[in-house]
Amino acid sequence: MKLEELAPPALAALLSDPEVTDVLVNGTESVWCDGARGLQRVAVHLGDTAQVRALAARLALAGGGRLDDARPAADIHLPGGIRLHAVLPPVAPAGPLLSFRVLRREAFSLEQLVAAGTMPPDCADLLAALVHGRVNFLISGATGAGKTTLLAAALGLVAPTERIVVIEEAAEIATPHPHCVRLEAKVANTEGQGGFTLTELVRQALRMRPDRIVVGECRGAEVRELLTALNTGHEGSCGTIHANSARDVPARLAALGSLAGLDQATVAAQAASALDAVVHVRRERGGAARRIETIAVLGLSQGKLVARPAVLVQPRGLERGPAWDELAGRLGW
Ligand SMILES: Nc1ncnc2c1ncn2[C@@H]1O[C@H](COP(=O)(O)OP(=O)(O)OP(=O)(O)O)[C@@H](O)[C@H]1O
Ligand SMILES: [Mg+2]
Repeated sequence: MKLEELAPPALAALLSDPEVTDVLVNGTESVWCDGARGLQRVAVHLGDTAQVRALAARLALAGGGRLDDARPAADIHLPGGIRLHAVLPPVAPAGPLLSFRVLRREAFSLEQLVAAGTMPPDCADLLAALVHGRVNFLISGATGAGKTTLLAAALGLVAPTERIVVIEEAAEIATPHPHCVRLEAKVANTEGQGGFTLTELVRQALRMRPDRIVVGECRGAEVRELLTALNTGHEGSCGTIHANSARDVPARLAALGSLAGLDQATVAAQAASALDAVVHVRRERGGAARRIETIAVLGLSQGKLVARPAVLVQPRGLERGPAWDELAGRLGW
């Protein structure tokens, strides 16, 4: 079913606007849009609470999910590459909260990201060196910082002779790479059956002759399988991770590892040998611009996992940080 048949015209129009990245419906109170001009309130009204609730339930059903009193929150994939998170009262006391994310339809190339000011040219060269040098790296950043977009651009640099297996919660990564196959997690049905987790997908990917394994977003227990895979010779892998700074990535990895029953020391040891670098991307406050802020090296310091800056990205170019020699060493420079 098309979006126009599911959503009121005003909402469908916002969601199909190429400048819009997010549409946020706050009950009957207000509707907000994020995109090229930053977060802004828009004059769209979707009716009373019952109407907004019915809209949410209809969209959930169209996305193969369920949203009702028994299940008041859901993550839904809609036609046209739109991801919807919806939560109903009483969990959302002031009315249904709908958060739409419009997934990018076309990939940004690295050159386009340079042109958009996301990184200076020498940072793009360094990123290319990470990819070609088969360095294992994570792209970190806050929500909506541009992690997935940057990852897709980086994958565009992988040689066409290599086979990439991408593992995602939902198909998001748009890359022009000619040999990129995808595995997508599957939510269990209402009886709790038929679910396929990211952890299971990492195991499957290992049997698919990957040259590179890519985990779209490390967000749970699959981090254990990923670290194991990377420690058994799968070089050149990458993924994204949610963190507010490169320095926070070790703590985030520890938290994810604990979901898989790994203690902090084990995560530290495994991650230090599995992962080489972290590329941190930040969204400018109040605007649409994204910038790569730093590239850090992951390693052990007194038994603890730490991310130490190898380069600080300035608007005009790269500034070397304390871990520069280590990064250069990993690149064989
Ligand atoms: N460098 C950039 N310049 C301008 N817009 C960008 C840039 N990177 C991403 N965007 C836009 O911002 C939105 C969010 O990007 P993206 O999905 O890559 O972020 P994310 O950090 O992966 O988000 P999430 O936390 O939801 O996974 C997208 O709609 C994308 O088009
Ligand atoms: Mg993402």
